[in-house]
Amino acid sequence: MKYGWFSVMTLSGCTGEKEVTVKAKEGVVDLLNKLLTEELTVINQYFLHAKMCKNWGYDRLHHHVLERSCGEMKDAQTVIDHILYLEGLPNMQRLGTVNVGETVPEQLKADLDKERAMVTMLTQGIQHCVKVGDFTTRHLLEDMAKDEEKHIDWLETQLETIGQVGLQNYLSEQIKADG
Ligand SMILES: [Fe+2]
Ligand SMILES: [Fe+2]
Repeated sequence: MKYGWFSVMTLSGCTGEKEVTVKAKEGVVDLLNKLLTEELTVINQYFLHAKMCKNWGYDRLHHHVLERSCGEMKDAQTVIDHILYLEGLPNMQRLGTVNVGETVPEQLKADLDKERAMVTMLTQGIQHCVKVGDFTTRHLLEDMAKDEEKHIDWLETQLETIGQVGLQNYLSEQIKADG
């Protein structure tokens, strides 16, 4: 199934010129769909972790993790839009494994694993785009990788802080929300 008719009709309808289509380079829609699966998975994982933190009374963590989940939702939206732009069909059916941490450190480690896997996937995607000459998708993946690197940095910092000040001290700082 193709969504291409919409962009073709819209563009040709507006400009009155000949049809304009944007065809994906080989393997690009596939890699974007794999990325979409990962984004959809982490949205769920982080959302659940955020809600668990709220339930434990760690408001500060709750807000931060919820914000990260919303950020991944924006990533998913970007990927969906780009797949449609390339006349592909976004696959919303697949979901990877949601790894649920039963304690705060377990959650941080599980989220860190997901972020690292995401950066690996993005790096491979960027390499593929270079190979097939898709520079638009390459830039999009590079921008996403920068955001995921920031997520990695934040998660690593939390785990280092726990190591330095102890879990109890760390958690006592998470009870109040920022601001
Ligand atoms: Fe993301
Ligand atoms: Fe992320």
